[in-house]
Amino acid sequence: MNNSNPIGIFDSGIGGLTVVKSLDSSLANENIIYFGDTARVPYGSKSNSTVIEYSKQDAKFLLSKNVKMIVVACNTASSIALESLRKEFEIPVVGMIDPGAKAAIMATKNKKIGVIGTEATVSNKAYSNALLKLDDSINVFEKACPLFVPLAEEGWTDHKATILIAEEYLSELKKEKIDTLILGCTHYPILRNVIQEVIGKNVQLIDSGSAASVEVEAYLAGRGIKNTSNNIGTHQYYVSDVPKKFKQIAERFLGREVDHVNKIDLEELKII
Ligand code: DGL
Repeated sequence: MNNSNPIGIFDSGIGGLTVVKSLDSSLANENIIYFGDTARVPYGSKSNSTVIEYSKQDAKFLLSKNVKMIVVACNTASSIALESLRKEFEIPVVGMIDPGAKAAIMATKNKKIGVIGTEATVSNKAYSNALLKLDDSINVFEKACPLFVPLAEEGWTDHKATILIAEEYLSELKKEKIDTLILGCTHYPILRNVIQEVIGKNVQLIDSGSAASVEVEAYLAGRGIKNTSNNIGTHQYYVSDVPKKFKQIAERFLGREVDHVNKIDLEELKII
């Protein structure tokens, strides 16, 4: 494995770009290949077997591009498919759940942690299990917030509809007096300001994506496969549908221009 090989990142769509943004600031010299499964998003309302099947196809696509590690940016895929991917593939596979849980344990003082995510992430109790494994005296309160995904995609980051929906979703967690809230979905960091406003300034928000980028760096260093180049890394983007829309949203998310977005055929993806 060559140190200059890219890091492969996949998500169900555009949300994983929040993870790219975190890696961009901590590991700017790494080359990145991103795959967003925009034809089959959302994963958060699909069955476990479907999410595992899609995740394996996404990972195989990245492997066909000679990636040196895989980052599962999608929290839903991380909750459900991580173990299957680690069993099937030899290269390191990093997910969002353990890094997010570790960061939350470090942050909490009253041991009351809230978790928000997709229906699938919440019903699989991925974060609860990870948190309780680290500290069984933690109280965890989970809430699925599915409408946050389309609101983030629309760019309604401070719209009054977003505030109303956040008030509805977060009211139970507020009552529980959590002091830490895990943003357990790729899209939620985009709505960070509204979420912080509604849950209260005293609650610490944990962005699993930025927690995971610390783990990515540790993995690369531990295996001696960090890119040693002094140049800024290249980014290549692939999606399974509508590259034009991905490009527009990606530029808004990343705050910079994205040269080209390649479309790959879903039928091809299934047989890699
Ligand atoms: N990427 C998904 C996640 O982080 C959110 C969008 C979806 O449901 O696919 O859970």
